[in-house]
Amino acid sequence: MQLETWLAQAGGRSDPRTGSLSTPIHQTATFSHPRLGESTGYDYSRTANPTRSTLEKALVEVGGGARACAFASGMAALDAVMRLVLESGRKRVLCTEDPYGGTIRLLERFFRPLGIVPVYVDTSDTRAVLRELDAGGAAAVVAEIPTNPLMRVADVAALADAAHASGATMVVDNTFLTPYLFRPFEHGADIAVYSATKYLCGHNDVIAGAAVCLTEEMGARLAAIQNATGGVLGPLDSWLFLRGLKTLAIRMDRQQTNALAVAEFLAGHPRVAKVHYPGLTGDPGHERLRRQARGFGGMLSFEVDDPDLVPRVLATARVFSFAESLGGVESLVTFPAVQTHADVAEAVKNRLGINNRLLRLSIGIENVADLIADLDDALR
Ligand SMILES: Cc1ncc(COP(=O)(O)O)c(C=O)c1O
Repeated sequence: MQLETWLAQAGGRSDPRTGSLSTPIHQTATFSHPRLGESTGYDYSRTANPTRSTLEKALVEVGGGARACAFASGMAALDAVMRLVLESGRKRVLCTEDPYGGTIRLLERFFRPLGIVPVYVDTSDTRAVLRELDAGGAAAVVAEIPTNPLMRVADVAALADAAHASGATMVVDNTFLTPYLFRPFEHGADIAVYSATKYLCGHNDVIAGAAVCLTEEMGARLAAIQNATGGVLGPLDSWLFLRGLKTLAIRMDRQQTNALAVAEFLAGHPRVAKVHYPGLTGDPGHERLRRQARGFGGMLSFEVDDPDLVPRVLATARVFSFAESLGGVESLVTFPAVQTHADVAEAVKNRLGINNRLLRLSIGIENVADLIADLDDALR
């Protein structure tokens, strides 16, 4: 079966007893045992819950790998993945230098004090990553593709080869492209991690995360960490996640068609100094992403020519909501320097270009003429 079919039928036929087409929501904390020494396979919902298990199985069917764990948020997933890779005893974590700001906060505020050394590197520059790997001691390379908000594109297979040669684990945060557009395991990744809050759930109504491991051995260790630390996704949210997955393909198709049209409009606008969208043929990441992925996604960022225009755009946009998230059916505009990337050091933001003129757009499924007209009004 093709991916669209797996997605549309995600979680289907999970209850042969009743034939329920939609997965039942097992809203229970615990499970009774038939007798001493016997179990239905479920004991306590932190360890496993049938609705969550159906979702986790669907994530493997849809994106590959051996085992998935559904988490209470993308950050809970990332935290557990960090604990997993650090079980190697190695102390350095190489991370994309412009990741989601929360990833930096997690590494800096909570792992660095424990003796872990996060190293930020331009993961679109394979040689820069190789240099850091040669320095030794790296537990993992953590790459976002494309990066957030500058949309830089890594060569994931090259990074994975280099990571493996030095004994490090390759982790891909595939939140932006999802397994519909990019398949991390086909490019050498060991672990794919998601803020499912975004495209996978897709409706700006759930906070959820997921991590998928290439091997059963890693998956079992991740599940043990999740059971011990407890960041599990609840049954109702697991069901909403499954429902979101069913429409992922058509949502993403529409979102990326809209995104390209919006990027082209912005690229020709006199008040716009720069557009970052790998779907544009002139974008530095275009060719590289075209070779690796089925599409370019629905995220873009752009720089206006004057910082005073930013508050005006945020106040006057009517179709775009000024809100901090992405990947839902509704279009959002975000000001990364003060919102998503507030925890990134000023000097780093300035060096990278996450400045007071940069806005990020998450393009939804609305009529594209309305999106363009809204931006046209707001940029006056
Ligand atoms: C790329 C990326 N990874 C991880 C996260 C964290 O996910 P969550 O907000 O679901 O905890 C986000 C959130 O914006 C993100 O954009």
